Amino acid sequence: MPLLELNKIHCGDCVELLTASQGLHPDLIFADPPFNIGYEYATYDDRLDYDHYVDWTRQWMSACYDVLSPNGSFYIAIGDEYAAEVKLTARTLGLTTRNWIIWNYGFGQNTAKKFGRSHTHIFYFVKDHQHFVFNDEAIRVPSARQLLYNDKRADSRGRIPDDIWRYPRVCGTFKERVGWHTCQMPLKLMARIIKASSDPGALVMDPFSGSASTSVAAAVLGRHYIAFEMDENYAALGQKRVLEALSSGLREINANEENGTPLRSQTCSDSATLFEL
Ligand SMILES: C[S@@+](CC[C@H](N)C(=O)[O-])C[C@H]1O[C@@H](n2cnc3c(N)ncnc32)[C@H](O)[C@@H]1O
Repeated sequence: MPLLELNKIHCGDCVELLTASQGLHPDLIFADPPFNIGYEYATYDDRLDYDHYVDWTRQWMSACYDVLSPNGSFYIAIGDEYAAEVKLTARTLGLTTRNWIIWNYGFGQNTAKKFGRSHTHIFYFVKDHQHFVFNDEAIRVPSARQLLYNDKRADSRGRIPDDIWRYPRVCGTFKERVGWHTCQMPLKLMARIIKASSDPGALVMDPFSGSASTSVAAAVLGRHYIAFEMDENYAALGQKRVLEALSSGLREINANEENGTPLRSQTCSDSATLFEL
């Protein structure tokens, strides 16, 4: 297959497109696959039997690994159900785990006889454990020493965030919400990953584009993007979303709204009040 066009969301099966593509070497891959929990997607059926899903997970992770640049980073979002399988598959592929991040999105659905779930796992892997991009200056947050204690010993640059990330999920009332995809990643979360693990001008790839949050954040932050999406409608609407974000003049996404302080009150009616202290 000829070189795939950059800065485009391609419609098709990511494993097929990645396996057939030549010369594609993304610096950063972010993958948010279907979690196999019966979610409703327009085309994909999110109810595979266990062996089938695990086998498919290995196929797409392997296809991503093969194209990832030698100094590249690979982030994968996954639910509790298959987090262990993803971690083990990464190890067999030769990836090194830098962090096992917990995204605490605020609150989950009501449950009857177990505790509610309010997190998703995000694995941060690298191909070469000694050579990879990590732009700490781009993602530092104010430290408790700076914010609470006015401590003169505080590093004026702030600190690197911990591995528990608190961003609200994209609720129905948020301006950011596209309305045509149910699993939309927040742009602030994507911005933290992209700023930390890629330089301006780098290539960011997303094999499961969905609402195109990865591509929007990458394009706005001055990276190239390429993404795959099996559903024709999602692919087209995602491409439109990227172009609209760029033409709106958006050129920065502040990833550091959360600062590691505990959640006290949460409401889904207004993003500004979500993490109010
Ligand atoms: C969890 S969603 C991704 C959400 C995305 N991160 C966002 O912020 O909107 C997974 C997406 O992968 C797509 N998909 C499933 N299997 C695929 C495949 N083999 N190739 C490409 N896309 C696929 C689904 O249609 C769905 O839109």
